Amino acid sequence: MKKGLVKLIAGALAGMFLLSGCDALPKGSDGPREVPQTITADFTKKENKGNWVTYGDCKVTLKDGTAVVTERKSSNSGVAVPCPDYRGNKIKTTAQATTENDSLTLSMRYEIFGNVTYVNIAGGQPDASGAVSITGTVEIPANAENALIYLEANDVRDYTVSSFTVSIEGEFNNLTGVPVESLQDPTQTASLAAAYADYFKFGVASPATVMTNTNDGFRKLITTQFNSVTPENELKPDSVLDAATTLADPAKYNECPAIHFDAAKPILDFCKENGIQMRGHTLVWYSQTPSWLFYENYDVNGNLASRELMLKRMENYIDQVMNWCEENYPGVIYAWDVVNEAAADDGGMRDCYWKQTIGDDYVAKAFEFARKHGPAGVQLFYNDYNEYQTSKQDDILAFLKPIAEAGNLDGMGMQSHISSGLNVDNYVEAAKRYADELGVVIHITELDVTAPKSVNPMYDQGVYMKKFFTAIIEADKAGVPIECVTVWGLTDDMSWKSATKPLLFYGNLSPKPAYEGVMCAINGGEVAKPADYVEPVSDTTPFTEDYEDQSFIGGPRYSSVQKVVEGGHDSGFCLQNTEGYAEYDGYSIDVSQYAGHVIHVSFWIKSKADVCKCTADIDGTWPNIAEVQTGSDEWVFGEGDFEIEEGATLTIYFESSDMSPFFLDDLEIKAMN
Ligand code: XIL
Repeated sequence: MKKGLVKLIAGALAGMFLLSGCDALPKGSDGPREVPQTITADFTKKENKGNWVTYGDCKVTLKDGTAVVTERKSSNSGVAVPCPDYRGNKIKTTAQATTENDSLTLSMRYEIFGNVTYVNIAGGQPDASGAVSITGTVEIPANAENALIYLEANDVRDYTVSSFTVSIEGEFNNLTGVPVESLQDPTQTASLAAAYADYFKFGVASPATVMTNTNDGFRKLITTQFNSVTPENELKPDSVLDAATTLADPAKYNECPAIHFDAAKPILDFCKENGIQMRGHTLVWYSQTPSWLFYENYDVNGNLASRELMLKRMENYIDQVMNWCEENYPGVIYAWDVVNEAAADDGGMRDCYWKQTIGDDYVAKAFEFARKHGPAGVQLFYNDYNEYQTSKQDDILAFLKPIAEAGNLDGMGMQSHISSGLNVDNYVEAAKRYADELGVVIHITELDVTAPKSVNPMYDQGVYMKKFFTAIIEADKAGVPIECVTVWGLTDDMSWKSATKPLLFYGNLSPKPAYEGVMCAINGGEVAKPADYVEPVSDTTPFTEDYEDQSFIGGPRYSSVQKVVEGGHDSGFCLQNTEGYAEYDGYSIDVSQYAGHVIHVSFWIKSKADVCKCTADIDGTWPNIAEVQTGSDEWVFGEGDFEIEEGATLTIYFESSDMSPFFLDDLEIKAMN
């Protein structure tokens, strides 16, 4: 073969690799191929052959069978294990590491028709010696390409990983060689934005990969359905801060970090060209903000910067970002989430670098700077999650009131990452309270609704969506100033919580019953029962679980892990609950078959935690069914009653008060009437 030709073929091959990533799936008809059930990173071997790759901007050095990750430029850079052949499966992933970072997280990245999606799987905090072990399970959508699991941290400090595995949970669904499903024409679906035009804007969060994608289906879905767009990640500090430039000359950029809009430009261009308005998300946040921003000389090995210096950096950052956007894309951004998630989950204000360096008034300062420098007419929002919970409402209102009184707040962003157990009246009450007490407008900024664990999850979710949107239309009519509702993602597969199927469109762009529910709320009518609808049975047979056959019917709530182990109450086996992000990550069971009855729940539980609870999983209230004093690490009996509404879907869950593992045995649930 001629040299020139060889070069040409090599070039074409390299081009293919660039386009599709090195682990592109076979899309042809070559059929499924043998796939190992477990992938274990071998840190004695180089990238790829050792089943691992370097992820993002960092340096990986192999030492004594471990991977030492240094020079991490962003919190998500590190080591990854590619698992492209595991799409369409539930996987379990485990990593063991040592680090000086406060926490490590196992996350997943995959592409859906070329659009990048990130999913957090599980996190862990290192012990006093810096050691941490993290385990989590997650489902990978069937259409996901180039899936990989990576280990990220809350900070840019080094970490050393000694083991990293990804394995199939349950029966393996081999989709290698199976073509990815084809997309539906989204322009055939009636427009949400048009249907809701009299009430509020209908927005969507999108990654900028949608704009650069060779596939125009996703762009058509946006232009057909939505009239407001929020960049999913591209306007967050870690995308906007120019690390290379700032860190190369810290003295020059000491008070005014360098910024760039490489990631955000495609989505800003798209909105400008299509006349779609944008919500800017987000200026000041504890997360997705590189830790070097908070240090003297931008050096994480030195001291934290002073309040004065951080106020200058904050002011300059806000000024530059808001004004660059307005100068280059006049009128495109109509609202900014100035501060995101400043309230703590357990009350008060979240501990974070902003609070540590500036103090509690960092929120007020951010709004002051945004008002001072922001273009006239751009609305300034505070944005948070679990914002409908009464206790969090109190905390948020406490620090927002003075800001609103100073005239620096225009809107409250209710993220609304909810599940279909959330009581819509409580939710609307929260919206009304924010609007009344702060005198601001409301945006629902990140709506996604975890599908219930019922026999007809998609249909039931659709029915809930109708109820939810009916309630917010009514509230709007009654004067609650809801001006925009944004859903957090285009399709279930592209959701940051894809396993919970929380959005309005399926992965192939066709509308879900959830979409239909939203449309029924405005147009009337009922969500159609699907062809495979299963009539829910009211089954009042008592339910028992003693784990002696080593099986259990429930599952993890969020990222906890259950395992049947020996040492049960009165010997035998019991269920162990470990891991998870928070105390409420526990063992969850669907009890919807008892709808319309009072249930009696009894169980034996053991834990080092002071208290263990059995709770009904209803967003916003989480009523207690039984509470037992554990602490002694001995088996303790618990019981309680709970009335389940007619027609409701309900899960209950067991949790420990401080994330200590707990053990459950001899669980019985029975209908009392
Ligand atoms: C999420 C994005 O959807 C993910 O792609 C990213 O990996 C993590 O952040 N609250 C917010 C959003 O304000 O910015 C978050 O977005 C979801 C929770």
